[in-house]
Amino acid sequence: SPHRPTPALPALIAHRGYAARAPENTLAAIDAAHAAGCRWVELDVQRLGDGMPVIWHDADVSRCSDGHARLRELDWAAAQGLDVGRWFDARFAGERMASLDDALARLAGHGMGLNLELKLSPGHDATALAAVAGRALAALPPERLLISSFDDTLLAQVRRDHPEAVLGWLAEALPDGWLARCRSLDAFSINLDWQRLTRDDAAAVKAAGLHLLCYTANDPEAFAPCWEWGVDAVISDDPARFGVRPA
Ligand code: G3P
Ligand code: MG
Repeated sequence: SPHRPTPALPALIAHRGYAARAPENTLAAIDAAHAAGCRWVELDVQRLGDGMPVIWHDADVSRCSDGHARLRELDWAAAQGLDVGRWFDARFAGERMASLDDALARLAGHGMGLNLELKLSPGHDATALAAVAGRALAALPPERLLISSFDDTLLAQVRRDHPEAVLGWLAEALPDGWLARCRSLDAFSINLDWQRLTRDDAAAVKAAGLHLLCYTANDPEAFAPCWEWGVDAVISDDPARFGVRPA
């Protein structure tokens, strides 16, 4: 396999920026994670109708903005007309949807790392989304970027285009054929739903030499056994609950 960095992955990664403290997937959330002492965040990226890559989780904007539209029906100018902060708290009124490039610049400025989830919503173009990975690879140092997706076909494209990329395959629970697929992707990690993780699955992942990440855990006591099973990192809405402290 080509020369590839080992990510400087911390044990705690802040989910959707810092979803417990700021509107998810915004620059304000990245700033909240930085202020809280988080070294890495997870963010979702998708493409607007005009192809602009933006940081957004849902297929539409209803839950997290003052508008109602499918993401693929919006262009960048229309998306910038949305308030994406007030729904969370009046303190965040005026927050605007972040482009991927905005988010990458903010993370680079903070010296932070990123788990970028390529989020393929129904009706979106998988090939075009996979191509977005190149922007992240160009913007962040290789040891501070993990690219993940639930869509393994999309990840295979990222692997073909970027031999140097560090990849994590997302799944709810270990899928049939997971090991062969991780090998063919030359994956760094498998990223699983912690609530479906079993001791045996964790042992198998670790025995295969893969890193094991879990999403989305917010209760440190309930999660405690997973550390014993060898989980390397947890993606949490609220890393402070797990002991992350400001520097
Ligand atoms: O990447 C982990 C986690 O973000 C996957 O689920 O729906 O929160 O994007 P979701
Ligand atoms: Mg995500």
